[in-house]
Amino acid sequence: MACGLRDPMAWPKSLAMSLRPILLHPDPRLKKVCTAIEAITPEIRALADDMLHTMYDAPGVGLAAPQVGVLKRLFVMDCVKEEGAAPRPMVLINPEITWVSDDTAAYEEGCLSIPEQYAEVTRPERVRMRWTDLDGEAQEEEFTGLWATCAQHELDHLNGKLFIDHLGPIKRQLITRRMVKLKRERAREG
Ligand code: NI
Repeated sequence: MACGLRDPMAWPKSLAMSLRPILLHPDPRLKKVCTAIEAITPEIRALADDMLHTMYDAPGVGLAAPQVGVLKRLFVMDCVKEEGAAPRPMVLINPEITWVSDDTAAYEEGCLSIPEQYAEVTRPERVRMRWTDLDGEAQEEEFTGLWATCAQHELDHLNGKLFIDHLGPIKRQLITRRMVKLKRERAREG
């Protein structure tokens, strides 16, 4: 295969999950407010499986549905970083923030749709989030540390907002220009 693309026919038959291409900023689909998920269909389950697979493969700690071109309110995350610790793949459907701490924390954020660009973003240090899981059950949990940052970053994606929208215009435009150049280069490479 050219360009190091994976050949799906060479994958084991049991491997139902597949990698989905990640949209790169700037892309109008990354600026849209996503719609609520009304029912957990087999398509939604397949989407969640594919998104987890795509996130781990990237590798990243979070991925939102609009990043794979699906404008629905769903994101996946796994912020377990400790070497050898068990993974904790999470799928959050129709997530909402129900509480935020007054304390804030600054993290150097990146995004799979804005590769190799990082900037410090200040957000509430802790948040409570409510969502529906893949079994249709309501869940609520308080996140802290990297989990809190990631959950807020991913929820932003569902509202058409990127981490660079938290930065000043000069820094945002600088990163956007670099991304336009990167996309042009990638398009040329085919
Ligand atoms: Ni992101």
